[in-house]
Amino acid sequence: MEGDLQLVVKENPDDLAQEAARIFAAAAVDCAFKKGRFAVVLSGGSTPKLMHNLLAEKPFISEIPWEKTHIFWADERCVPENHPHSNFRAAKEDLVDKVPIPESHVYPMSTEFTPEKGADAYQRTLSDFFKLEPGEYPRFDLIFLGMGGDGHTASLFPDQSALEEKERFVVSVKGGNPDVYRLTMTLPVLNNARYVVFLISGKQKAEALKTVLENNQERLPAKRVRPVSGKQIWLIDREAASMLSKSVTYGKT
Ligand code: 6PG
Repeated sequence: MEGDLQLVVKENPDDLAQEAARIFAAAAVDCAFKKGRFAVVLSGGSTPKLMHNLLAEKPFISEIPWEKTHIFWADERCVPENHPHSNFRAAKEDLVDKVPIPESHVYPMSTEFTPEKGADAYQRTLSDFFKLEPGEYPRFDLIFLGMGGDGHTASLFPDQSALEEKERFVVSVKGGNPDVYRLTMTLPVLNNARYVVFLISGKQKAEALKTVLENNQERLPAKRVRPVSGKQIWLIDREAASMLSKSVTYGKT
């Protein structure tokens, strides 16, 4: 982990969001130019909000090729789309409804069916979008992930069988806070990405971050995210970094 780890520490949540938005915009422009499309995955929780707000304002809103951008979610709580706990609702209010992205380029996880049916539906969405052959996995251009104080990421929680899933792209789980049924992308998808950015802020993440980055504990899901042939950056603020040993090298994105 240490060999391929890039850690970027920002002073505060605003600087963190600014850097995350810059990474989003740079990847979008690069992919749109090189491939004609940019497939990005957002995570839920509260940390991404500042980045979402920035992406919907100048300069980013006018830099990003929204007509070539496709937005997916790493996980979703199995609640109605307008529920306060919905990851899609939050991103829709803060970002999707404020930018000129075609509606057909926004792929929320479906929560109106049973969790199993929702997972199957998103599995099909990913297979269709990437035109996958049997045995192939989705390869996203950029995946933003958060991390909980227990080391979870997306809705992959410690000691749950979803962590060992090797075939399916999306599974249903129950857990977290709120402790509800959820849909989550699995490690094979996360680790097939071109670029994974962990966005972590706050003192309440410091202990889990130290465990993930400095101890060889594979138990924590965030530790298990390691793109096979892609770039990974841990974009954190000073508070989240407060328990890291000084020997950890701090890079630049
Ligand atoms: C979810 C998220 C989850 C989140 C972390 C961090 O649906 O709960 O996807 O994985 O990224 O829990 O959440 P905060 O940003 O609120 O700390």
